[in-house]
Amino acid sequence: MNSNLSSEIRRQLNPERLPAHVAIIMDGNGRWAKKRFLNRVKGHEKGAETVRTVVRVCREIGVKHLTLYAFSTENWNRPKTEISALMTLLKRFLESERQDLMDKEIRLDVIGQLERLPEDVRASLVDVMNLTSRNKAMNVHLALSYGGRAELVRMTRLIAAKAKAGGLDPDSIDESVVADHLYTAGAPDPDIMIRTSGEMRISNFLLWQLAYSEIFITETLWPDFGEEEFLSILKEYQKRDRRFGKV
Ligand code: FPP
Repeated sequence: MNSNLSSEIRRQLNPERLPAHVAIIMDGNGRWAKKRFLNRVKGHEKGAETVRTVVRVCREIGVKHLTLYAFSTENWNRPKTEISALMTLLKRFLESERQDLMDKEIRLDVIGQLERLPEDVRASLVDVMNLTSRNKAMNVHLALSYGGRAELVRMTRLIAAKAKAGGLDPDSIDESVVADHLYTAGAPDPDIMIRTSGEMRISNFLLWQLAYSEIFITETLWPDFGEEEFLSILKEYQKRDRRFGKV
C-alpha cells in the first residue's frame, strides 16, 4: 500500500517531465547493518528489498530505464565471504523476481563483466535476460562487475578492432559511435543519478553517460531508502532547470 504522502507526491509529478532513465549508486548497506550490530550481509539483504521497491515504483509511474550499481569492479577486493554472500543473494533475487518481471513486462539486462561472475550466477542471469528480452514496459540494467573505466577501455578496443579490420574509418568516429560501443548502447543517458549514504563521489559509475545527469546525494542509507524519498527526488528533479551547457 502507498502511504498518503506517496500518493500526494505522485499526484504532484508532471507525467510529461518524468526522467527516461534513473541511475542509482546503492550505498550504505554495510553501515546500516553495523548500526544494528548485524552482519554486513543482513544489510545487503535489506538492500535487496529496496531494489524491489524502486523497481516497482519506476514501473508504476513510467520510468523506462533504471540502472542499479550492484557490484563494481573494485568490489572484487572485498572479503571472499561477503562476495560469495552477495552472489548468493543475487541468484536468489533473480529466482524470486523472475515471474514478477514477466508479469510486469520488465526486461532485465546486465552491464559489466558478466564473464567474471560465478558460473551459476551467470547462468541465472542469462536465463532471466533471455526470458525477459522481449519485454517492453521497462528496462532494469544491473551493473555487475561494472567499472566505468573498464567500459571505456572495452569500447576503445571494440572500435580499434573495427578500424583495424577496415570496417570503420577513424575520421567517422564521433560521440554516437562511442555511445554505440558502450554497454549502455541503445539506452538514453541517465537524467538523474542518485547516490545514497552521503558520499560525494561517482565511484567509477557510468563515466561517459553521466555527463549531463542531475545528481542527487542523500544521507539515507540504501536499506532505509524508500518510495517517498524516491518520489521526492523526482519532484525536485522536475524543478531543476537543465541547460545542457546552454544559457
Ligand atoms: C553498497 O553498500 C552496496 C553494495 C556493494 C551491493 C549492492 C547490493 C544490493 C543492494 C543488494 C543486492 C542487489 C540486488 C540487485 C539484488 P556497502 O556494502 O558499500 O555499504 P557501506 O559503504 O556502508 O559499507
